Parts: sequence; C-alpha cells; structure tokens
Amino acid sequence: MIVKTPPLGWNSWNTFGPNINEQLIRETADAMVETGLRDAGYEYLVIDDCWSLRERNEKGELVADPAKFPSGMKAVADYVHSKGLKFGMYSCDGTMTCARYPSSFDHEFIDAKTFAEWGVDFLKYDNCNRPLNYSGRLLYKRMGLALANCGRDILFSACNWGAEESQNWIKETGAHMWRSTGDIVDNWDSIKNLTEQQMRLLATNGQGCFNDMDMLVVGMGGKGNVGFGGCTVEEYRTHFSIWALFGSPLMIGCDIRNMSQETKEILMNKEVLAINQDPAYRQVFAVPTITEDLIAWKAWVRYLEGGDIAIGFFNFGENPVNPCLAMTEIGLGRVSGKAIQVRDLWTGEDLGVYRDHMEVRVEPHACRMMRCKVVDA
Ligand code: GLA
Repeated sequence: MIVKTPPLGWNSWNTFGPNINEQLIRETADAMVETGLRDAGYEYLVIDDCWSLRERNEKGELVADPAKFPSGMKAVADYVHSKGLKFGMYSCDGTMTCARYPSSFDHEFIDAKTFAEWGVDFLKYDNCNRPLNYSGRLLYKRMGLALANCGRDILFSACNWGAEESQNWIKETGAHMWRSTGDIVDNWDSIKNLTEQQMRLLATNGQGCFNDMDMLVVGMGGKGNVGFGGCTVEEYRTHFSIWALFGSPLMIGCDIRNMSQETKEILMNKEVLAINQDPAYRQVFAVPTITEDLIAWKAWVRYLEGGDIAIGFFNFGENPVNPCLAMTEIGLGRVSGKAIQVRDLWTGEDLGVYRDHMEVRVEPHACRMMRCKVVDA
C-alpha cells in the first residue's frame, strides 16, 4: 500500500479521551458527511485509546468494550464505511496502551488479524509500556510486518513521538506516517513548541511516510481532553496553516458535531488543503527575510506541482512584523525575467505581481499564506 499524500481525518482523543462510544462515532461519521468535511478530503475516522475491555478473550483476542460499543466493532466499521469513510483504530507496542488497556506486544499478528476482520483501514500504533530490552525499532517492525500480512490494506500510523531518533529508522517498519513530535495540547505554547520540534526533522518528511505533527486542536476552544487553555481563532488559523504547509497529516481533534462557522472555514479552506495535498509533495524550506529592525525572520516556501509556489509567514512573536522577502531567495529575481502573482489564501485577495521583493505585514500570532504563480516580469 502506497500513500501519496498526507492522510486527512478525525481522531477521538483530543476532545473525548476515554469518553468514547458507538453513538459518538456514528454521529461523528454523520457529521463528517453533513458538514462537508468528507467531501473536502477528510476520509479517516479514527477511534483512539480506551475502546477495549481490560482483558483479552480466551482466544487471546482484543475485545471491544460492550458497554461502549454494544453492536461490536465490525458494525461500527460497517457504519463508517456506509458513509463513504475509512475506519481507524488504535493500539500500542507495549504490554498496555498509554491509558493502560491491553496492547499488542507479543500479540501483533493476532491483533492485525482482528483489525482486518473488523474492517479497519488505519491503525494508530502508540509507544507506551514497552517491556525493557525491546526497542521501538523492533516492535514497530513487528507490527508493520503483521499489518502487511493481515490480508487487508491498513494504513500504519506510527506514534512514538520521534523517540529513539525514529526519523532514522521509521521507514524500515512500513509506517505510512509517524509522529515526529510530542503530544499536542490546545494552547498557543504547544503549537509553537511542536513547530520548533518539527523544524529539525523537515528533511525526513516525504511521500509514502509523512511526518505527523499530531492531531489538530483547531476549534476545540479549550474544551475536552487536551483543552488546556484554548487558542484564538487567529492562532488556530496559524496552527492549521503550518501543519498544512509543512505537509503533516491533518487529523481533526475537535467535536465536529458542533463546529462554529470560523472552525469550518479554517478546516475546509480548499486552497490551503490543496497545498497540504499537493501531488508533488515537495519538502518545505525556510528562507531569510529582512525586517525594519533587522530581526531575523523566515518565510516558509514549498514548490508545488505545475510550477506554483506556496509561501507562509508565521508570527510567533508579540509584535506585528513586516518581513520583506527578496525574490532571489525563492529562485527568481530580476535576472530570471520572471515575477510572482500572489494570492492570499485566507482573504482570497489577489495581492498583485512582485518582481524584486515582497513585503507583507503579519500580526502577532497570525500568519499569511500565499499561493504564487510564476509570470513574466
Ligand atoms: C499517547 C499519544 C496520544 C494518545 C494517547 C492515548 O499519549 O501520543 O496521541 O493516543 O497516548 O492514551
């Protein structure tokens, strides 16, 4: 199974934590369709930790908690599929999951078989409670092999938070995406922190196995399992823009049954999603810009399929800035005979044509996201 662009979907953990059940999953599947999220490209609905009984059955299989999922997991998967969505589940490489439910250590092949029988399309695989003397490097390979032999295409989402320098070996395991950061919580410091953690790992991102910056907190408003403080709408827009431009999978974490208009507009901005899903999936890179007070500032750039260029400016500071980007930094400039025609992806405005340099204003905690066409100067 080859995955060409970052997976998009929803995951239960950020808002619901252990408070998950069949009705929530069915309502969320309905909401993915009714709100337009499915048609915007969000296709995976993933149940995170806390879905099983505390004990395996007599055959050694995982059992869905009948109090939470009375119809059983196969029925839940069937419902999700009937909505034109794909179904994701969660396990872990240790003896217990992070929330101390039974987990897949030494049960990799039997669990992969169970997931395949239920109709699972995506497995998030965590990294808690690993027995001593077993490396993640080995245990992720075991599950990768088990999934590859389970008779069903199951996307393997490795979640070991970048531990054990996993950027150096995660592709050995068959993972299609891998958590390259620690856990997100719903506040601005966390978004800043995860962005910083990601910067040294950008070169390891690539088609087929994507750097996963963790699930989105857009629209959580400080509510739910990881709702520690919340963010402003502006901060959510910046968060979403970074995850999109950096090429992370985009797994929604808010309660999509009750999204505000602003949340919908962020999550379903087609042009920002198109950058995330760009078929060429080239690496993002940073270039220097100049500000009035000569503070070092970066613009983030990605060359797109067909020759367009995406540019993002993200202001993590507390004051407005006016960075000025020289076109030579993105491979153009006067000698090229070319200029860029710039579209602002959040306002929808056409900002005109720039040949030598482009100066933009970025408010504190805000961003600017642009898609540029290369035109004759
Ligand atoms: C870890 C993961 C989270 C979530 C929890 C569940 O912390 O990184 O994304 O899955 O476990 O317990």
